Parts: sequence; structure tokens; C-alpha cells
Amino acid sequence: MPEKEQRPNISAEVIAYREFFAKEGDWEAFQEIVRLREELEPLDGWKRRKELARAEIEALDPDIFTKLFEKFAPYTDTLPPGHGRGHMQRDAINVVLIMQDEEIAKADPVELFVGAVGGVFHDIGNSVVERYDEPFRYSGHAEAGAYLIGKIGKGLIPPNLLSLVQLSIAGHTHYTKEFSVEKEGRAVLKKPYQDEVIDGNRLGMWIPRWTDRLDTNGPTLAVRHIITKAEPTVDFSGGKFQDVWEDPEDDFRHQFSPVVRTSEARAKLPAPKNTTDVLEHLLMFSDSNYNPNLPYPKYDTPYYRWHLMTPLVSWQRQFVLATLAEPPAFTQEEVSKHIGDFLKLCKTLEPGEKIDEKVELLRSKFDLLDEDARRRWANGFKTLSTVYTHWYGREDELLREQTKVESPGLYAVIESLRKVGINSLFGFMP
Ligand SMILES: [Fe+2]
Ligand SMILES: [Fe+2]
Repeated sequence: MPEKEQRPNISAEVIAYREFFAKEGDWEAFQEIVRLREELEPLDGWKRRKELARAEIEALDPDIFTKLFEKFAPYTDTLPPGHGRGHMQRDAINVVLIMQDEEIAKADPVELFVGAVGGVFHDIGNSVVERYDEPFRYSGHAEAGAYLIGKIGKGLIPPNLLSLVQLSIAGHTHYTKEFSVEKEGRAVLKKPYQDEVIDGNRLGMWIPRWTDRLDTNGPTLAVRHIITKAEPTVDFSGGKFQDVWEDPEDDFRHQFSPVVRTSEARAKLPAPKNTTDVLEHLLMFSDSNYNPNLPYPKYDTPYYRWHLMTPLVSWQRQFVLATLAEPPAFTQEEVSKHIGDFLKLCKTLEPGEKIDEKVELLRSKFDLLDEDARRRWANGFKTLSTVYTHWYGREDELLREQTKVESPGLYAVIESLRKVGINSLFGFMP
């Protein structure tokens, strides 16, 4: 797996970690997380570690995030499109926005710092393990990322805070059911994390998930999700493989059919016709924010739900509806232009070493769609350009507000991160 990805521009340090995780590191990292979970998951364990971490907050280097970004740069540069540097930069912005919620800003600064670092670096493991190999590995990108920050963050993040950060990264994928992984004859059971928030404890486990969800909704999700569909990926939702299309072109035509079916209608179909297509997936994500039967929005504050999330959901739905609607009588040139504008947006939002390749693949695959479908996507992308401009304007406006965090040590850290966020937002200018 790592061998085929090795390129001269990947640093030796990253290559060494890829080799490590392809071999003994897979088990070693998993065991480290098992030990961490035994100690820190019980409420007493988390609280004890928090008390030890308290003094570390006041002594934090205000520019700790800038220094962490520098240390992680070789890793960040190799993140795959869809979970790339762009996702991480927006995670940093989203951490700042979450800290502007007065209700959250009052919380324990240890929880906030742990959640902030976890929020920014939750996906760093994707630089060293292949995301779609997860069902065959002990350490997925969450465990690999937690292990990695334990090594790379050492010396910059004080030790007690660091172990709490590791747990928050390991638990960010928020799986809700246990599942087993078997490799080389050895099976392990992966269990959901103990993450109930009790008297404000373990809030740090939730901030990375909140951060992530702000980028898995809205125009940024539409772009990220479509990028990941350039090539067929194995859908292992529910821990099970689904039958896949034999021909990757059929997979693309299915994913990009401008159709939204109900889950009941889908359930009557055989695999792989029953797999969710792109538009269905986008709607499913946006609906999950308001479904009280799902665990994801369990602790959402009113500010998070109505001020931060709801505009994203509304933009996402506008895009879906425009793609489903009867399209205007576009000329061929207009269709190509709107698809071309979308592909440019892919490069803006997910810069990275492999994005050009992905974009060219997408361009050729959109030619596989029939004329009606192409016109509908062109119309959707035209709307997406507009809602993207709204998204950018909103982020710009929100980033002007100073953080509401009260602890002086943490205030300086988040204000410094806000400046980083303002700078990185320029890169996303429409
Ligand atoms: Fe992740
Ligand atoms: Fe993520």
C-alpha cells in the first residue's frame, strides 16, 4: 500500500511512518490506544488526568498551533483529496467558530484545549494509512492519528493534555456499534467510546466531532464528497462490504444519477443499485443534524445547531434541489462551463498533491453521463457557486469576532488560531 504512493516529494519521515503502519506499527499503535482507553475512558480516569493538565493550560505557548502546523507540514502535504489540507484548514476555522459560542466558551479550558487540538488534527492519520483499508487494519486513521500526535506533538503539547488529545482523536470517528477486525489470524473487537458528557467532563471528546461535522455539511461537503466519488470506493457502512459495480463507469453513472429515492424504495432493490447515490448521501447527512434518534447531534448547543449548522444545511439542500430540478435549456458550452467552474472549486477547496489527477478523472467521467443528467448537474453546480460565495462571506464575517473563551492561557491560543484561520480563509476565496 504505501509503496505505490511513494513519490520523491514525500518526506522520508512520512515514508518511514507509512512503512511502520503497514507493518508492526498497525498493532503497536492499536495497543497504545487500548492502554489509553483503559486509563482515560472511565470517568475517574478522565477527571484525574484533567486535574493534572490544569496547570499546563496557564503555561501554554500562545503560538502552539502555528508550531504544530509547522511540525505537521510534511504530513499535511500528503493528505488525500477529500480529507486533505483544505479540510484541516477549515477544521481550524471551525474550531474558532465553536469557541465563539458563549455556552461553550464557559466550559473547562482543559476540555476546550483538548477539543481544539483534536478538532484541528483529527484526520492527520490519513497521511500515513490508507483510509479505505480500514476494515483490514487494527489501527484506522483515527488510531494512527492519535498515535502520531503522541509522537510529533511531544515537547509542544504538555504531557497530560497530550494524552487527552490522543483519546479525543482516537474517538472522533464516533462509531456507534462494536465491530471486529481480523488480520493475520488475530481478531480484535473495536468498541464504541465512552463519551457521555457528565458535569462537563468529556466535552473534549465531542469538539472534534462538531468541528468535523461543520465541514461535512454545506458546499464544502458537496465538493469533498464528489471528489471521493471520482473512483469507486468500497462502501463499508455498518462494517459490511456491499456489492460493488463491476464496471467503474457504471458506478459513476449510478452515483451521479440525478435522483433521490426514499430509503424504503432503495431497500427493495438489489445491491449495488440500493447504495446511496451522491444526492441521497448529501440529504442523509443534512437530515442527520436534526434526528433525535441519532447520537451525532446529541449535545449540539442552540448556537451550534441554529447559527453554525443550519445555514450549511440550507445551502446543501439548495444544491441538491437545483440538481434535481428541470434544468434550463443550457447550451453545450454553458454545461461545460458550469462543470468546469465546479472542477476549479474542487482545486480551491481541496488543494494537494493528487487533486489535478482527480479533477481530470472527474472531468472525463462527467462525459459518461447522458445529456439530461449533465444539464442537471450543470444547473446544480451553478447554484453551488452561488451558495459557496455565501459560505465564504459568512466564514469571513464570523472570523472577525474575537473568541469568547475566558481562561487567559487559552484565550491567547485561540486568538492566535483565529489569525491563522483568517489567513487560510483567503486561500478559499471564490
Ligand atoms: Fe476522520
Ligand atoms: Fe474529518
